[in-house]
Formats: sequence, structure tokens, C-alpha cells
Amino acid sequence: MRFLRRGHPLVKMAIFSLVAMIIGTIISLAIDWFPVQASSAADDIDTLYDVLLVASVPVFVLVMAVVFYSVSAFKAKPGDMSDGAPIHGNTRLEVIWVTIPFIMVSAVAIYGWIVLDDIEAKQPNQMVVQVNGQQFAWDFTYLGEGKVKSNQLYLPVNRPVEFQVTTDDVLHDFWVPEFRLKTDAVPGLTTKFRTTPNKIGTYNVVCAELCGIGHSTMRNTVQVLPQEEFDSWVAEQQGSESDGGAAAAGGDMTEAGRALFTGDGGCTACHTLADAESVGALGPGLDNVVADAEKYGKQAGQSPKEYLKAATEDPDAFVVPNFNKDVMPENFKESLSAKEIDTLVEYLLAVGGGEKG
Ligand code: CUA
Repeated sequence: MRFLRRGHPLVKMAIFSLVAMIIGTIISLAIDWFPVQASSAADDIDTLYDVLLVASVPVFVLVMAVVFYSVSAFKAKPGDMSDGAPIHGNTRLEVIWVTIPFIMVSAVAIYGWIVLDDIEAKQPNQMVVQVNGQQFAWDFTYLGEGKVKSNQLYLPVNRPVEFQVTTDDVLHDFWVPEFRLKTDAVPGLTTKFRTTPNKIGTYNVVCAELCGIGHSTMRNTVQVLPQEEFDSWVAEQQGSESDGGAAAAGGDMTEAGRALFTGDGGCTACHTLADAESVGALGPGLDNVVADAEKYGKQAGQSPKEYLKAATEDPDAFVVPNFNKDVMPENFKESLSAKEIDTLVEYLLAVGGGEKG
């Protein structure tokens, strides 16, 4: 401490702060903050974050360094009960500490706007994917690709895509961290963002807006594929869509029911069912659904089949003990055809028989 007192305290404080700022900035840039870069926007956005770190970390460290230095260097000596010198304004200092942050914030805002404008620019040859959220699942409709609908997102690599995001119920937020982009799904609006996936792989689709009891399970994946693999997936979807009904009519209810359960119905997000390899826990488990449907159906004078149909079409009419109302979507009557609901019910009756001993 004697060494510090030899020079002017402000000079010592400036040196102390400068060293802390350099160390703080180096540490903040050395940390690996981001997941892999899988879209055309990722590099620009990561650079933007690095610039923000370089702009903000030194300011934070400077303020903290001055605070800690002052507390240590200028504290009152033991027994000194006198008041400090009265301080009035210091115009020059106030002008400096308003002007510098104003210039920094304005520069960052302009830079951010330029980057946003750049990554949102409309691209030729873009494909459009409609993303729809509902408690608690996403589904994806491909326009101009023969209108394929899927609950799994597949994208061709290096093809610009515009996501048009909507919701059936409450606010959700469509986020792919590896693309670095997200947008809210707002009731009554279609929100958009554009990007070009540029790295083949499987990434996360996350709901980034608290949307109810199943928010944390509202996750999915996006698979970025080579163009040929994407094309064959689209062809496969178009094929399976047209013979899906035929399979059900032809008697293979289980296949068709499983496809509905894991696909458009979005049932797997909330219900456990071994046959569909789902482990959701928000709604009642369905591995013993036949026995449950008998038990609860009897109370309402319904057959197990009638009970399951009613429970799908009007889920809040009877809520299984220990589960909550208003969790299961009430739109299956609109979003699935009567035949599809029958197929689902048949499927559950076929595979929900519990352990057969
Ligand atoms: Cu949907 Cu959180």
C-alpha cells in the first residue's frame, strides 16, 4: 500500500483499471459462448456479439475497478469521524460521461441495424416453411413443395428459407440456436425470419417463450440434409400422405395410428406410450389406457371406445385425477378428421393393453 501512495492516486487507479479491463476483455473473448454455426446469419451474429463484448466488458470492468480501488485506497482511517469534503457538480466530467456512452450506444445500434438488414434480406430461390406452434408442439408446412406437412423439420442445405411463424393458442417462440435466430409466434399474426442453413447436421428447435406447463418439453429437432436427401424425404411424405388413408382402410390401423400419434397429433410431447417410444409426462400415460378407459368410461356410461373418442375431442369434459385441465389442446376435432380420430382410438385400444402376462 505504501507503493500506491507514492504516486498520484488517480494515476494508480487508472493503471489498475486498465489492467483489469484488458484481463476482463481477454477472458470474455476466450469463453466459447455459442453452439456450432449452422446458418448464413451465424457468423455475422457471433461477430456482433464479440463487438458487444469488447464494447461493454471494459465499461463494466472499469466501473468495478474504480469502485474496488476507491474502497481500498480512500477508506477513512480508524477513528476518523469527520465528514468528507462537500462536492458540487463537475460539468466537464458530466459532459464526458454522457457523451461517450451516447456515442457507443448509437454506434452499436447502427451496426446492429446494418447486420439485421443484411441477414433479413430476401434471397432469390427461397423456400417457405410455415411453422405453427401449439401447446406443446411444433408442426411445419412446406409451401411450393406439394404442400407437405410434418411435425419434424427437414431443410435442404444451402437453400434460403423463410419461416412464417404462427400459433394456434398462446405466445410461443420459434428458436434454432445453431441458426442464431428466433421469432415469437404471436396469436393473430404471422411473424417471419429468413436464413440459409449452411451446415449439414441435426440441430435443436426450442420454444423460447414461457407458454404453459409443457413449455420445457416443446422441443424438437431440425435436420439439415443434402438437397437429394431432402427431395427424397419430400417425395416420401407426398407418397405416405396419399396412401395413409388406404393403409387405415386396408386394416393396418396400428401403422396409421402410430403415424398419427407420433406425427400430426403431436401426442408424444405429453403422453408416454411404449409402442410410440414416447416418454411425455404432462398427460396421463397411455400404456394401460384400455384399463383406464374401461374404468373412467364406466363412470360416464361409455364404452372404452366412446370414452377415448370423447377424451380426444373434448379433453376437459373429464380430467383424469392428478392431471390438470386446459393442458391438452382442444382442437383435435378440427385438426384431425373424424376418421383420423377413429384411427387413433383404435390404435390406443390395440397397443394400450398394458403388460400382457
Ligand atoms: Cu411454447 Cu414455450
